Amino acid sequence: MTEQIYAPDVEANLRADIEDIKSRYPQARSALLPMLHLVQSVDGYVSARGVALCAEALDITRAEVSAVATFYSQYRRHPNGEYNVGVCTNALCAVLGGDEIYEAVSDHLGVGHDETTEDGSITLERLECNAACDYAPVIMVNWEFFDNQTPSSAIQLVDAIRAGETVSPTRGADTVGTFKEISRVLAGFEDGRADEGVGAGEATLLGLRIARENGWTAPVRTEDAATRPDDAAPSEEEK
Ligand code: FES
Repeated sequence: MTEQIYAPDVEANLRADIEDIKSRYPQARSALLPMLHLVQSVDGYVSARGVALCAEALDITRAEVSAVATFYSQYRRHPNGEYNVGVCTNALCAVLGGDEIYEAVSDHLGVGHDETTEDGSITLERLECNAACDYAPVIMVNWEFFDNQTPSSAIQLVDAIRAGETVSPTRGADTVGTFKEISRVLAGFEDGRADEGVGAGEATLLGLRIARENGWTAPVRTEDAATRPDDAAPSEEEK
């Protein structure tokens, strides 16, 4: 099979971006992870031609690039849908309905884990914990949070995506970028949207608020107290 190559202008832009990424690291090969996101921002997955370009740019073998690309689940080995819909089915989300949500969405779309709808709009993924357990069950669309989901809200969400409607995460950016757009951000090319929307929500902040209202602080370990600098003397509450 003849391997596809990039169009000259696309390759020139990729090479310029790769040099930009490499310049951020004292050791060039440390740049491989964002470079793989960059490849996904163009190809929608870690393509053979992208692997070859990364290998050449870092003077390493294609096998070394592939070894990294196959280790991390955010790197795709076949074209991803425009929107990656990840349903968390890890422990807390599972007991609160994550498995039912996954099954409902899978049945509705007619695809399973790591499969893409025929129109190319959605790739379904069974996700591990998103560190958002306080909003379980959680769905992530291109790594934006959709909290406290149900089977019916999840189906509404994927129907809206397939209809081309703009969907808004519960937290984070105001809208969800495409898989390729978000891949470019993950490569370190900011889209200027990092400060959009709310950050931590009420469920995350509740414990902190209760602690403050009650004047509770974390206990200081004896060894930490002995080594803390003079200008970090324990507060009245810590004594
Ligand atoms: S178990 Fe789903 S976010 Fe943690």
